[in-house]
Amino acid sequence: MGQRAVLVLNGPNLGRLGKREPETYGSTTHDDLAAQLIKVGAEFGLDVEVRQTDAEAEMIGWLHEAADYSIPVVLNPAAWSHYSIAIADAVAQRTADLIEVHISNIHTREEFRHHSVISAYATGVIAGLGLDGYELALRKLAA
Ligand code: DQA
Repeated sequence: MGQRAVLVLNGPNLGRLGKREPETYGSTTHDDLAAQLIKVGAEFGLDVEVRQTDAEAEMIGWLHEAADYSIPVVLNPAAWSHYSIAIADAVAQRTADLIEVHISNIHTREEFRHHSVISAYATGVIAGLGLDGYELALRKLAA
């Protein structure tokens, strides 16, 4: 039987994981995260593809693709979480589960990070568990 496809979609500045504010986001690079999620996903029976973009239009295109093909998504919308109605509208079109992940606990940080405009359209939200949040989301999608 073929593995089930899952998209892991990372928003702006997450391509700089490892270099970016390591005290908040850790020292693992995006390439290392992607390799780890592909490996763990395969153990869960998932065919994981990891993508990252700093361009909102590109992310919206990927969310449309996921909606058109009913592909489950793990999404870290990064800063878009806090203000992008366009990303929220794209997530609202989902036809499969979508789990929102934040590496940091957005609720303990600056006030402007406390609200996500995406969460109302997500299946569920994981925040503050570091990179483990992605693996936990994959585990849930595989269940
Ligand atoms: C983030 C939290 C956001 O507030 C921030 O803009 C990010 C990353 C996280 O994973 O903790 O870029 O989504």
